[in-house]
Amino acid sequence: MPTTAVEAKIAPSMLSSDFANLASEAERMVSFGADWLHMDIMIIDTVDFYLWHFVPNLTIGAPVIASLRKHTKAYLDCHLMVTNPLDYVDQLGKAGASGFTFHVEVSKDNWQEVVKEIKLKGMRPGVALKPGTPIEDVYPLLEGENPVEMVLVMTVEPGFGGQKFIPDMMNKVRTLREKYPKLDIEVDGGLGPSTIDEAAAAGANCIVAGSSVFGDPEPARVISLLRTSVNKCLKPNFI
Ligand code: DX5
Ligand code: ZN
Repeated sequence: MPTTAVEAKIAPSMLSSDFANLASEAERMVSFGADWLHMDIMIIDTVDFYLWHFVPNLTIGAPVIASLRKHTKAYLDCHLMVTNPLDYVDQLGKAGASGFTFHVEVSKDNWQEVVKEIKLKGMRPGVALKPGTPIEDVYPLLEGENPVEMVLVMTVEPGFGGQKFIPDMMNKVRTLREKYPKLDIEVDGGLGPSTIDEAAAAGANCIVAGSSVFGDPEPARVISLLRTSVNKCLKPNFI
């Protein structure tokens, strides 16, 4: 397990940014105090000659990450909502992604290979789970020689920004935090000033926030509020 201290990481979700001005939006968020930039990658994959998608939406892929990387040194926290993450490890590594988080629902058979490849390409591996997936499903990925370094607990159904936070997901966060005091636990979906205290109290330390940050006239104030709430809950025993 990771031994470094658990820190607050505030990650504005660029899904809510103006994609036509991605570089300046990224720069703006970093200047407002963002630690990470959350990049939602949704693509149609080919599986056994059929076209599939993991979520009913399309966003960006490796070419956009590569373009953005030319304009920022920020940590690019990539969330892969795809059916076959292994297909994208190489290209995202080359594009300059920092974190590579794949979904456990599509990786039960090959997660070990996926994690190994992610590390080989110089990225940090994370695993995500949908609201309907039990927390126990990620336990195997946190044990053994090659564990993931972050768990992303989805607090909405993946696919779109601007949805309502599902409070029941906090049971998963609490269970995970009790079992893994030093793990990076990320929450994604519906996070903002009205939901952050609940997520922070449950033990989340990496906070993705799209519409609440980009939709506010003072994004810097929202980022700072999210950070303060997480810092208040980081117990000394997490460090
Ligand atoms: C949804 C994405 C989220 C989304 C969050 O599938 O994973 O990252 O951008 O947006 P908000 O914060 O608006 O719920
Ligand atoms: Zn996301």
